[in-house]
Amino acid sequence: IRLSVVDRNGGEHEVETAPEGSLMETLRELDYGVSAICGGMCSCATCHVYIAPEWLAKLPDRQSDEGDLLAELQFRQDNSRLSCQIQLKQEHDGLRLTLAPEE
Ligand code: FES
Repeated sequence: IRLSVVDRNGGEHEVETAPEGSLMETLRELDYGVSAICGGMCSCATCHVYIAPEWLAKLPDRQSDEGDLLAELQFRQDNSRLSCQIQLKQEHDGLRLTLAPEE
């Protein structure tokens, strides 16, 4: 599937990835500065991204631990998600997102 990723410097990238694993795992491999130091345990927030508005409703709802962690973040927006909590599937082809600034 293809993803459109805007990095923290505003650079836009078209990325090809397999529809498996979490979105965080794909972003971490890209080396745009997503360190994911908790390894996807929903506790570090370094995998924070902003989802393009047209994609927000197509993703599964946040679980409470994701919402709790996001609520603590300075750079939180309405379209914030933790990418480690999103499992990539075929239906996510074309997903657009922007990496949130580091806290
Ligand atoms: Fe740590 Fe997502 S990788 S919260």
